[in-house]
Amino acid sequence: MAASDGSLNGNGAHPPARDGRPHTPHIWQPRHMRYAHLTGWGIRVPDRVVTNVDLEAVVDTTDDWIRTRTGIQERRFASERDSVTQMGFEAARAALNRADVLPNDIDMIIVATSTPEDIYPSSASKIQNLLGATRAGAFDLSAACSGFVYGLNMAAQAIRSGSINTALVIGSEVNSRVLDWNDRSTCVLFGDGAGAVLLEGSDQAGGFMDAVLGSDGSGAELLGIPTVGTATLAEGRQMHKLHMDGREVFRFAVHIITESVRDVLEKANLSLADVDLIVPHQANQRILSAAARNLNVSEALFYSNVHRYGNTSAASIPIALYEAEREGRLKPNDNVVVVGFGGGLTWAAAALQWQSMQEKAPKGLAYRLSQGRRELQYIGAFWRARAMKTYRRVEAALRGSPAKHANLREGTPPKGKPEEAPRDKR
Ligand code: ACO
Repeated sequence: MAASDGSLNGNGAHPPARDGRPHTPHIWQPRHMRYAHLTGWGIRVPDRVVTNVDLEAVVDTTDDWIRTRTGIQERRFASERDSVTQMGFEAARAALNRADVLPNDIDMIIVATSTPEDIYPSSASKIQNLLGATRAGAFDLSAACSGFVYGLNMAAQAIRSGSINTALVIGSEVNSRVLDWNDRSTCVLFGDGAGAVLLEGSDQAGGFMDAVLGSDGSGAELLGIPTVGTATLAEGRQMHKLHMDGREVFRFAVHIITESVRDVLEKANLSLADVDLIVPHQANQRILSAAARNLNVSEALFYSNVHRYGNTSAASIPIALYEAEREGRLKPNDNVVVVGFGGGLTWAAAALQWQSMQEKAPKGLAYRLSQGRRELQYIGAFWRARAMKTYRRVEAALRGSPAKHANLREGTPPKGKPEEAPRDKR
């Protein structure tokens, strides 16, 4: 057993190395703390606009009910061409353009989604391939509508520790494919879209400040999408269809926005008076109004575009950040709080300084050149993916498949009949 000083033989000395020299234990040192700045943002929403009046034709509802109960007026629905991967890729491209960063410079891609095309491969891996971000690790993150803020925190902490320098965080959803059109209390609420932000490391102070993450799995049955691992479906539920107890989720949402905004401000050593904008998950205008009342702030402090897109789950916060900036509601160095809540139950809030890194050179010739390099990388990524598929086929043909009855025990080549699988002895 190791002694308290970490030596292996318990007498204060490490055993000598094989060549007789004393063994010096390697002590890992963290790299110095850095700051994680938001330097790029982009969105992609489907072209197809579906208004409340359009829904009246397919569901027993009215424009008036939807507007007064939720604030939603219209949403976007994906066409056959749109997917979590394709929309996430296009939002990522826009974020890379905004930040003037090449795909090769990305170290990590996180996609927050509840509606991926596949359980695996992840949408993040597919976006990594489309971007040609060959140096990046990539994974999907499942925390429902809180997923984007969870991802933001994961990426920012990896940058702050010095482990990575550049990360893409994407929220992308095609909710229209998981709606139960027999449940009018949920199918009118959701829409599709994608948003992405790019985070970059710097020694310059600012950017991501702090976050609070939370989960209460005792509320798991309140909101969800059953999928392949479900053994039996609860009554009234359908495989791959969204179900929700709207009233319970409403109460939870109002309470948790209020709590988590307070908690993250305390952690970041800020007060509500320091906050320029709160960008919440866009679920229902009444939830935002109630949370503003609870926090005793003007409703105008809460950014809202729920009337345009409905609830786009994990995509709603990056889409709202993008639009808030475009509308002049977010300016460089503003303090912003993002807050998400949803299935799990989960919640997450983060405090950030918006666009706090010194701007790169004005977008002149150098920008146009790197823009061209980005486009070349996307074309290169397409051909690289095809070349890799061919390479794998050729390699398999040359090397052949593993021996038919290969024996897992080292050094015992298969003989005669293949071993039978162990039988249950009962
Ligand atoms: N059109 C017309 N009438 C409707 C509709 C509809 N689309 N949906 C429900 N109604 C009716 C109900 O049947 C009910 O009628 P009844 O009184 O005769 O029974 C009446 O409207 C009131 O229903 P409530 O459920 O009480 O309506 P409420 O005011 O609570 O609004 C809503 C429902 C909009 C779903 C609300 O509860 C809500 O927004 N909840 C939170 C949803 C949310 O924020 N989700 C976020 C997480 S999303 C995620 O993580 C994926």
